[in-house]
Amino acid sequence: MDRVVIFDTTLRDGEQSPGASLNSDEKLEIARQLARLGVDVIEAGFPISSPDDFEAVRHIARDVKGPIIAGLARARPEDIDRCWEAVRDAERPCIHTFLSTSDIHLSHQFRMSRERALSEAVEMVKRARSYCPDVEFSPMDATRSERDYLYEVVAAVVDAGATTINIADTVGYITPEEMYSLIRGLFEKVPNMDRAVVSVHCHNDLGMAVANSLSAVRAGARQVECTINGLGERAGNASLEEIVMALNTRADVYGIGTGVDTSQILKTSRLVSALTGIPVQPNKAVVGSNAFAHESGIHQDGVLKERTTYEIMRADSVGLTASNLVLGKHSGRHALRVRLEELGYTLTPEDLNRAFARFKEIADKKKEVADRDLEAIMADELRQAPETYHLQLMQVSCGEPLIPTATVQIRLPSGDVRTALSTGTGPVDAAYKAIDSVIGLPNRLEVYSVHSVTSGMDALAEVSLRIEIDGRTYHGRGADTDIVRASASAYMSALNRAVAARDAGTARPMMVEATV
Ligand code: KIV
Ligand code: ZN
Repeated sequence: MDRVVIFDTTLRDGEQSPGASLNSDEKLEIARQLARLGVDVIEAGFPISSPDDFEAVRHIARDVKGPIIAGLARARPEDIDRCWEAVRDAERPCIHTFLSTSDIHLSHQFRMSRERALSEAVEMVKRARSYCPDVEFSPMDATRSERDYLYEVVAAVVDAGATTINIADTVGYITPEEMYSLIRGLFEKVPNMDRAVVSVHCHNDLGMAVANSLSAVRAGARQVECTINGLGERAGNASLEEIVMALNTRADVYGIGTGVDTSQILKTSRLVSALTGIPVQPNKAVVGSNAFAHESGIHQDGVLKERTTYEIMRADSVGLTASNLVLGKHSGRHALRVRLEELGYTLTPEDLNRAFARFKEIADKKKEVADRDLEAIMADELRQAPETYHLQLMQVSCGEPLIPTATVQIRLPSGDVRTALSTGTGPVDAAYKAIDSVIGLPNRLEVYSVHSVTSGMDALAEVSLRIEIDGRTYHGRGADTDIVRASASAYMSALNRAVAARDAGTARPMMVEATV
């Protein structure tokens, strides 16, 4: 094979990041962007885990063209049948089934003998193959499994029809050197290994997920499972952007590339961050806001003289471009539409109207509206939950020695408008309490963060937050030049999401008794 297959699991393992839950429309939007990014496989979800997840996988399978669409299934008949139902309409469906092979999992968690695990894995791979020509099998906790037993299971499931074998470093335990020898061992000890693609799935508990994945590639693995921004269970998975850019930048070492269009990387990272509500740390490799910033004088001097003195990748190779079209308060609807289209947004006339109204409001306050501002407006304006409750007025007063006080007017689903007033520890707290007294949805604010989208005193503030209600989390975002307004709009958006989930009867997803 002449390239590494990029298997993106942002929508499955990535969504297992605490607080990263996405609704079906958001998953579809991310899946479409992953297709534009050029990943080979999208793992769209774990269909048996909840009716929501089933629907999301089915929707993606029907709608997204190009990549293979995979669904996850435990090695159980009911999981595999449900997974097939969800992925069967894809252009190229794949069933990904898994079972642990480590003694620590088999004896403590599954209470299963090695023999039984092997025969169940074989039976379930056969069952999956009876539906689908593309079947991936993951020995879970493979890296802590006894090697000879692992190789025996791999040989048996390849015989049973598995087309990809995915070595899972479930707990992020292995080191790059050990990974290299484990993968070499597969090629040397498993006689039928040439009949399946070898894949790796590395977690980042010791910060070695990317290094382990690349080591596996050097040893002959030809598929890497990874996620945008390195999202995933606990410390996350190997980050897609780091793997792809390492293979690209160090072609001299790895000698093999991917099918990814790297110019889409930044856009995908921002979309995933916006929809999951999980910010990207500024110093994150490849996609952090500081990744291409040079602070020290000596570095700036070098880069100005010759870019390669301190830059190993071009910023534009990951999609970081400085637009020469600056929008401002005199820009019209046409200029806005053209710029948004250049940024990759396809807008209906109604979307354009709403975006234009927001743009005008911001342009009145800010001299120049940059691409990052436009992206914040789009995220804020077009990706909101249906507005069951609408905040139509908010006034706050605070200062020294005032008691922070907020008055809000909220339009109810009935069309009536209610006014409430509250005091708080600060203006945001007062506003949230006033909103609560109208909407009456008790919740816990788990995460609240605010950052400025661009530099300058007139910058847009982007607020991202997460609330928890009955064990389920909802995120909200808001952008405004006024921090309190941005905070209120983020809170309203999270509450509206919770109300929409409650009304749709999905506020408490039916989870299977064991998740991954
Ligand atoms: O980490 C893991 O073992 C997994 C498997 C389902 C591949 O996510
Ligand atoms: Zn995982």
